[in-house]
Amino acid sequence: MKPFVKWAGGKRQLVAILQEELPERFDTYYEPFLGGGALFFSQLPQKAAISDINSHLINAYTIIRDELPCLLQALSRHQNTPDYFYAIRAQDPTTLSKVEQASRFIFLNRTCFNGLYRENKKGKFNTPFGKYKNPNILDATNLTAIHGYLNEKSISISCHDYKKVRSTAQKGDFVYLDPPYVPLTPTANFSSYTKQGFTLQDQEDLAALFKELSHKGVKAMLSNSNTEIVRELYRGFDIKTVSAKRAINCKGGSRGEEPNEVIVRNY
Ligand SMILES: C[S@@+](CC[C@H](N)C(=O)[O-])C[C@H]1O[C@@H](n2cnc3c(N)ncnc32)[C@H](O)[C@@H]1O
Repeated sequence: MKPFVKWAGGKRQLVAILQEELPERFDTYYEPFLGGGALFFSQLPQKAAISDINSHLINAYTIIRDELPCLLQALSRHQNTPDYFYAIRAQDPTTLSKVEQASRFIFLNRTCFNGLYRENKKGKFNTPFGKYKNPNILDATNLTAIHGYLNEKSISISCHDYKKVRSTAQKGDFVYLDPPYVPLTPTANFSSYTKQGFTLQDQEDLAALFKELSHKGVKAMLSNSNTEIVRELYRGFDIKTVSAKRAINCKGGSRGEEPNEVIVRNY
């Protein structure tokens, strides 16, 4: 099983390193900045609570779990041409059924430029056509495996803010936090945080939550950029510096760069 979407900030390049840093034992696995869920799919925990604030993304996970045959049918109807792509992109998702929304979301993700999910100020998906020769729009094998797993195990899927984990995660649980990163580039200013929808204040709130989880006995691991702000926010915790090559890099710096990242743990 692997992520069914390409996702900005996806952790596929870093999974092997993250796996080594996981705690040996934990009860429920929490991933409140789920995105493509690279670590989640590499672990396939028995009990998990996965969530993200992006409702289109979470709808796709839910439909894969609950309505796979209809989704596969809808995906099989898509075409990889610019005209078709722009027609689908122009649709207002709120006029579509939940299955059609998931199908549209996966289609756009597979065929758009770089697989980069991006919305304009009005919340409209605005990435251009990707011109891929053979995009894997209908990956029935992977989607079927994910469907089986999500139904067999005890996995809750929700769309909400990461802060909910403060009240839900209990002693002995494990939380993996992979927020939008603090920008790495020296030219990046604070407005860049806002553009990504995650402000410096959000980074500070997240660090406060990390501390609260620690006091509660919840094991927590966080990824972020190797910046002074981050090292300062998590001072006193175990901080490892790692390097990951990315196919998609929306976290400051340009595509193909090797950004320095940190893995912070409270155990
Ligand atoms: C760096 S990405 C996670 C990438 C993921 N680990 C992967 O492997 O694909 C950050 C995610 O956080 C989500 N996000 C941003 N702000 C959030 C918030 N306040 N609460 C919950 N999720 C949020 C975004 O929608 C995005 O999917």
